[in-house]
Amino acid sequence: MKDLTPNKSDLDPIEIASRDEIMALQLTRMKTTLKHAYDNVPMYKDRFDAAGVHPDDLTCLSDLAKFPFTYKDDLRANYPFGLSAVPREELVRIHASSGTTGKPTVVVYTQNDIDVWAEVVARSLRASGLKRGDTVHNAYGYGLFTGGLGAHYGIERLGATVVPMGGGQTEKQVGLITDFKPQGIMVTPSYMLNILEGFHKAGIDPRTSSLDVGVFGAEPWTNAMRLEVEEAFDMHAVDIYGLSEIIGPGVANECVESKDGLHIWEDHFYPEVINPVTGEVVPEGEEGELVFTTLTKTGMPMIRYRTRDLTRLMAGTARSMRRMQKITGRSDDMIILRGVNVFPTQIEEQVMATGGLAPYFQIELYKSGRMDAMRVFVEAAADAADNLSRTAAQRMLTKHIKDMVGVSTEVIVGDPGSVARSQGKAVRVIDNRDKG
Ligand code: DLL
Repeated sequence: MKDLTPNKSDLDPIEIASRDEIMALQLTRMKTTLKHAYDNVPMYKDRFDAAGVHPDDLTCLSDLAKFPFTYKDDLRANYPFGLSAVPREELVRIHASSGTTGKPTVVVYTQNDIDVWAEVVARSLRASGLKRGDTVHNAYGYGLFTGGLGAHYGIERLGATVVPMGGGQTEKQVGLITDFKPQGIMVTPSYMLNILEGFHKAGIDPRTSSLDVGVFGAEPWTNAMRLEVEEAFDMHAVDIYGLSEIIGPGVANECVESKDGLHIWEDHFYPEVINPVTGEVVPEGEEGELVFTTLTKTGMPMIRYRTRDLTRLMAGTARSMRRMQKITGRSDDMIILRGVNVFPTQIEEQVMATGGLAPYFQIELYKSGRMDAMRVFVEAAADAADNLSRTAAQRMLTKHIKDMVGVSTEVIVGDPGSVARSQGKAVRVIDNRDKG
């Protein structure tokens, strides 16, 4: 793998500013944002009034804890534009997520917000080791999902060339990567595995591809998956995090030279980690739910938005800004099986650690009598598809899950290609508990 460490002189000065400078900037911006939200969004005014707090009560960053949280349901309740803080004609972009139930959640952007977004994605790409003049293949989905367009504008802002491929058509993806020779690829980690499969089907050794780095996010993925993809393509794999409610991709990103968690672009997004049950802010280093307050967004400022993502905050390393640990999972994705908490990422780790298996898996939850039970569908690696190897892999994975995760599961090792492939965000869990 190439050394892609960026030159310090190419970074935004604030990325390596002192903590005091960063915190001073955050305080100024936080005051402005609270006032903007209070003055222009009825929901915030009502909430702050009901909680007996006013934007003037914020005199230091930790005062933010006095302010009420915002939840995903608040976006649904204010569908479609109720949380916008500017006149309708100042909005230049709308994105939305389908969600699984009920109304979609809608997010709106002013030109200022689109500029901030392009800036933080460009910064994320620079942290990933990409630079002006590079070509970046963008396989995040275009459309209402923030992945495609968010990445697109950031690639252009960096001064790189974007290939706006979008998701799907794996064969074509492989062809374009082979012909255009991009240095970077942006895609969900699960779809990257399909592209890997596409290389094998086309008879092209992925290690001979031009790719130096993949910038993977939009879903949880493990360090075990990182090693798998880095080895397969002989490239770096770095993590990009973000969510529509806060802006889209580019809220935090790993630095290619350290890969030790994601630096949060704290000059634009203020992080807190809270105990999800009590709502109390936990000390740095302790795990909990990530909460964000936007510091520069004008179209739809977000105050203390509950992401439901679980992580912990750590001091900065390659940059002065604080880091968040790679996300273990969302509180919504947590499976509770006979009292044991299980995240799909824990199953991913064990699948990756078991020989003879391909890196694809899906979990099914079902009822066994009155108890919840879990079945893990995996598939045999192409070179280990005989019955003997499958039985060995099946036993080994069952044992790994029992020993390392602490739950008993049924493991089914299918034929190569038998697990459903993702086109964007992978569906890891199928819940059949209400289906007899
Ligand atoms: O997924 C934005 C995005 C696009 C991020 C492309 C990175 C790359 P949403 O569809 O609103 O936005 O989903 C946001 O996805 O709250 C996390 O649960 C999850 N997520 C996003 N990035 C990561 C990541 C986009 N790197 C939700 N690791 C978030 C783990 C992630 N989970």
